[in-house]
Amino acid sequence: MARRGRRAGGRSRRAVRGGAWWGGVVAGLVLAGCGGGEATSAGTGPRQAAAAASGGSTITAAARAEAKTIFQTRCAVCHGEQGRGDGPGSAGLDPKPRNFQDADWQASVTDEHIEKIIVYGGAAVGRSPTMPGNPDLQGKPAVVAALREYIRNLER
Ligand code: HEC
Repeated sequence: MARRGRRAGGRSRRAVRGGAWWGGVVAGLVLAGCGGGEATSAGTGPRQAAAAASGGSTITAAARAEAKTIFQTRCAVCHGEQGRGDGPGSAGLDPKPRNFQDADWQASVTDEHIEKIIVYGGAAVGRSPTMPGNPDLQGKPAVVAALREYIRNLER
């Protein structure tokens, strides 16, 4: 059958939506690969870079456990236990923290962005400075990757 009238743009977005499956692999890599030269990778797509860097830090069970604790103790106060952006600390914030359960939000941000804002804070990525950085996680790429995975898994 002839499928001439196929629309190019419409569907491809959704197809990538399940970010979590490849996210786990990508994250560690992005971080592991960045010994200070992250600007140089601008030309290559994130997935290519990830593939090239594979073998970087994987998310261990310990990292996952630590990430969960960190989310509950540091992030939930603003982002909410379920990541809906409704934690008690969000009351006076403008802009409000995003709803991590929102599939459209999930699709709008890269894993790299998520990891960067977690470590360096909102101001570093052009978002609100009320999103604090977590400099102590700078040397813990697996935990940062696990936090990013945790956030990805909140999508409903
Ligand atoms: C003091 C409140 C507060 C705390 C604590 C906080 N955040 Fe945020 N966070 C925000 C706000 C506000 C934004 C929205 C910034 C914006 O949209 O400009 C944000 C944005 C984000 C984003 C990116 C949203 C986007 O669209 O770019 C991520 C990811 C994130 N936070 C993760 C975390 C994690 C993980 C922690 C814990 C380690 C954390 N945040 C702790 C307030 C907070």
